[in-house]
Amino acid sequence: MAFKTRKPYLEAMVDLAPFQSPRPDEYAPMPKPLKRRDLKGLNIPDGPRSPLLTLRFQKDTPAFLINAKAEYGDCSSFFLAGQLFITAFSPEMVNEVTVSKQGSFIKGVGFDRMRKVLGSGLLTNEEPIHLRHRRLMQSPFHISKISTYAQTMLGLTRKHISNWRDGQVVAIGPEMMSLTFDIVADILFGTDISADTKRVQDSMHIAIDRIERTMLPGLDRLDNLPIPYFRKFEKAANELHDVATRIVNERIASGVKRDDLMGVLLEAQTVDGEKLSAREISDETLTLILSGHETTANVLTWIFSYLSQNPKYWDGLAKEADEVFAREGDEDFARVILAAPLSGAIFSEVLRLAPPVWISPRRALEDVTLGGREIPKGAH
Ligand code: HEM
Repeated sequence: MAFKTRKPYLEAMVDLAPFQSPRPDEYAPMPKPLKRRDLKGLNIPDGPRSPLLTLRFQKDTPAFLINAKAEYGDCSSFFLAGQLFITAFSPEMVNEVTVSKQGSFIKGVGFDRMRKVLGSGLLTNEEPIHLRHRRLMQSPFHISKISTYAQTMLGLTRKHISNWRDGQVVAIGPEMMSLTFDIVADILFGTDISADTKRVQDSMHIAIDRIERTMLPGLDRLDNLPIPYFRKFEKAANELHDVATRIVNERIASGVKRDDLMGVLLEAQTVDGEKLSAREISDETLTLILSGHETTANVLTWIFSYLSQNPKYWDGLAKEADEVFAREGDEDFARVILAAPLSGAIFSEVLRLAPPVWISPRRALEDVTLGGREIPKGAH
């Protein structure tokens, strides 16, 4: 029975909790942070220098960053906890950081704490582990698979909204969270985890709050103190880890073989025959549940919010939806959806106005230029 052959996985999971796991040895060593005294002779971009700056950053980070852009443009510098931070706002600079010069950077402030929650999954992993996993996990995300997923998404959406009645007031945020949660669970892991929705969302809420509110370098030292605020952080991380572990264990125990992401994770091996460990599978599971459902739920919620302020688009959208759904059985249904002009324009504009991911911290591993500006090694 498949359950027996997989038993080592189940045992390996018992004592592994990401919250206490150290930074993996395979990652590049963290460069020394840059303090003001290290900057003599360096031509760093101008930026805000107020003594109240840390307070302003902590109080409202998005507002702080928007102000920095308005006042200093795409590239500015500031100091938090005595360490140099440089902003990169333009699409060209973002492309350099994430694509053309990505080898000059590692994941930045906040990612180590995110790793305490998500473990070492695609979102938090650095090279060389990231690329190895990315290659192993590529196939379920191929466009040829998306049309099948689209049918499942439609089915689950119809099921969710079948309870809505004309004139009823619906809390759209929680509805979208629960819908996208069910979609991710079904499509990627072939499981129904609706019973865990509240547990996952409560824990995720606590974890994201701690990561965002205590992002400053050095504050992670507080994580192990016997202070309720931080103990709740560890408890939330462990709860999420438990849910992911249970999903993996249930699939192994069922012996079911499916061509979805969980199937790929369980069977994947590199050319050298190396397989993902139980802990890696559980971390990737949690990473995809969290990164796949919260982002999409938030963007959908904002779409409803902006549409409620711009009702003139409803009729056009309804007409477009009828045309698209008439082609539901098409082999390339995903491409039909992606080509729908009005929904696509609304989606892109809402992503621009209210991006669900509004910060992607990185750390310079070496001296590098971004948009022609010099960024010194060690800068955040
Ligand atoms: C509107 C929806 C979404 C937005 C705005 C969004 C945004 C982003 C951004 C900005 C990153 C880069 C983060 C960084 O490297 O600092 C990212 C990475 C990632 N996202 Fe999403 N995402 C969305 C939907 C999804 C979905 C549906 C999934 C999974 C089903 C997903 C899984 C991931 C993963 C695994 C990564 C890490 C990829 C890698 O580094 O190889 N995301 N996302």
